Amino acid sequence: MRIPFIAGNWKMFKTKAEAIAFAEEFRELYKDTDVQTAICAPFTNLEALKEAFAGTEIKVGAQNVHFADEGAFTGEISVSMLEEIGVDFCIVGHSERRQYFGETDETVNKKLKKLFEGPIRPILCVGESLEERDADKAFDVVGGQIKADLEGIDAADVKKLVIAYEPIWAIGTGRTATPDQAEEMCAFIRKTLIELYGEEVSDEVIIQYGGSVKPANATEIMNMDEIDGALVGGASLKPKDFMEIIDF
Ligand code: G3P
Repeated sequence: MRIPFIAGNWKMFKTKAEAIAFAEEFRELYKDTDVQTAICAPFTNLEALKEAFAGTEIKVGAQNVHFADEGAFTGEISVSMLEEIGVDFCIVGHSERRQYFGETDETVNKKLKKLFEGPIRPILCVGESLEERDADKAFDVVGGQIKADLEGIDAADVKKLVIAYEPIWAIGTGRTATPDQAEEMCAFIRKTLIELYGEEVSDEVIIQYGGSVKPANATEIMNMDEIDGALVGGASLKPKDFMEIIDF
């Protein structure tokens, strides 16, 4: 039985003071629900958010991590640095990192392996571009990403995985995939996991949809059979909007 999981991805928004102000307001609005909730924030906000959400069910996530234990990697953050402050989740392979920062399936795979050595659960992002969808390549692209990203990863670890299907053309554009398009791809992702790991393992994996999710479309998306949750960008920046989505 999978628990619905709705996470915010703040991207490069909010200073520490702004994050604390959000957390104070969000704690007031937050009602205990059956939905698991997390905020994936810039590194500089993670410790403050862990403190602000202490004693609640609200989890905290990072948006990236390096795969090396430590070393001369200026500007990078390691898994143990995140573990030390109690981070619960970490986004890996977001399309913005693939597009602007040279993230590849190979580095995504290394990051997943490193995260699976400890307690932080990865949220693996996959998704096709508009050109790829228009050329009827969406399923090949997403299937290929999943196979490459999970190469050599054990079934026991995959059970802890969250996958977010984020079609690039729906991110920050206001153009949401239709619930049927999202459903179709999430079902395909589940089918790919069954091929790779079998039904029992695949049943445990949370599959989210991400791309212009907002209060107005959250119910429709969350009610789809194959969609277990959402990864929310812009609409997670306002406590009221994010709470409305969680309360879909
Ligand atoms: O990771 C969330 C994401 O990329 C979607 O962003 O702003 O379209 O909800 P947005």
